[in-house]
Amino acid sequence: MAKIKQIIAREILSSGSTPSVEVKCVLETGTIGVASVPYGASAGISEAFVLLDGDKSRFMGKGMLKAVENVNKIIAPVLVGMEVGEVGSQNVIDQKMIKLDGTERKTNLGANAILGVSLAVARASANEAKMPMYQYIRKAFDLENQGLLCDKNYILPNPMMVVIEGGAHADQSTDLQEYMISMIGNDSVAENVRRGIEIYFTLKKVLKDKGYNSNVGNEGAFAPNGLPTNETPLELIKEAVEKSGYSFGKDVGISLDPAVSELFEEGVYELEKENKKLNSDEMIEYFVNWINNYPIITLEDALAETDWSAWPKLTEKVGDKIAIVGDDLTVTNPKLLQKAIEVKAINSILIKLNQIGTLSETVECCMLARQNGIMTIISHRGGGETNDTTMIDLAVAVNAGFVKVGPSRGERVEKYNRLMEIETELAGNCSVAGLNFRKII
Ligand code: PGA
Ligand code: ZN
Repeated sequence: MAKIKQIIAREILSSGSTPSVEVKCVLETGTIGVASVPYGASAGISEAFVLLDGDKSRFMGKGMLKAVENVNKIIAPVLVGMEVGEVGSQNVIDQKMIKLDGTERKTNLGANAILGVSLAVARASANEAKMPMYQYIRKAFDLENQGLLCDKNYILPNPMMVVIEGGAHADQSTDLQEYMISMIGNDSVAENVRRGIEIYFTLKKVLKDKGYNSNVGNEGAFAPNGLPTNETPLELIKEAVEKSGYSFGKDVGISLDPAVSELFEEGVYELEKENKKLNSDEMIEYFVNWINNYPIITLEDALAETDWSAWPKLTEKVGDKIAIVGDDLTVTNPKLLQKAIEVKAINSILIKLNQIGTLSETVECCMLARQNGIMTIISHRGGGETNDTTMIDLAVAVNAGFVKVGPSRGERVEKYNRLMEIETELAGNCSVAGLNFRKII
């Protein structure tokens, strides 16, 4: 046990060059924890509030000095002197901040301020306990003793790599946001990462040979322009997987995040590239057709975040075969997840720490998912990531099925490097989710 001595925040840049918040927590023992907060480019409407300065003379209004000030002047004085390191103390600290803010979406202090502190306190506590973060997260929330995990052993997540991106993440690419390869072999994480990267490089060659450019978008995935349809990336990926010598459907599956909330207006999904306007049932049929033709294993945000009545129809249709994942729909919010469970909208959930704004609520959401047979996928943010790797430790702590991360750029590969480091650290005392991913709940 130790007491918090100091909490200091500063404004930093995230990968998309939007400002973000970094927080340092110093304990009375001298132990330090540092954490930073990512920023989403296609954020869901129900996400926790990101407090921006709005001062157009700095960073086009996207500065985060107000959030920094809220940490330094409002949150820090309340938390200094509080104990960390005991089972439950992370929750006490997070609840204190939630109360101090007093709003549903953390609009007073900003989720960017609150999450920065939450993670910095957790990091300092882990360092004080001389534990890796994944182990500390299990301890802080007593996950093993309370029987909250599917398995006390560590089951490492499969890599889900974004290889082609469009939508809000890249100009002039596809209407749909993300085409991913998901590694489903269970030899080792390092092996899965290597396979994914090899396919990524082969895909670059496939794109070049066909005359497409291989520039990358926000997430380090290719963002070619001039693709004739939204289905073309599936064919290109198939070719890349096979040319790399892997079995399409056995070693590697496709994951999709069409992020169609961005394309939805007044009951209509507009696919500009294909000159199509679809209603909800037609949107479902559009994807069911793809599922019948390609080894799609996970499908995220295939319907809009406001189109609640359509989601159960999709899950009813294909939820026994593939993972139907809520992201904008559920925004890592236990209340929205509960609603999705009740109406049978999904069988899997994307988890992003900054969608909800504290480590405690994020873990609560993961455990609620597990208790209801909902698979968790822990995700990076498209718009502005930082080098913080807490999402990976969280994934390992809760036995998530996948981690969704781009295949290139420093802030992305840092996540894979951390996952491989954990695999080495655990030295065989773990397994890899592999093809059993649907059971990792
Ligand atoms: P975002 O998008 O992080 O830019 O909002 C990623 C996603 O939708 O999964
Ligand atoms: Zn998404």
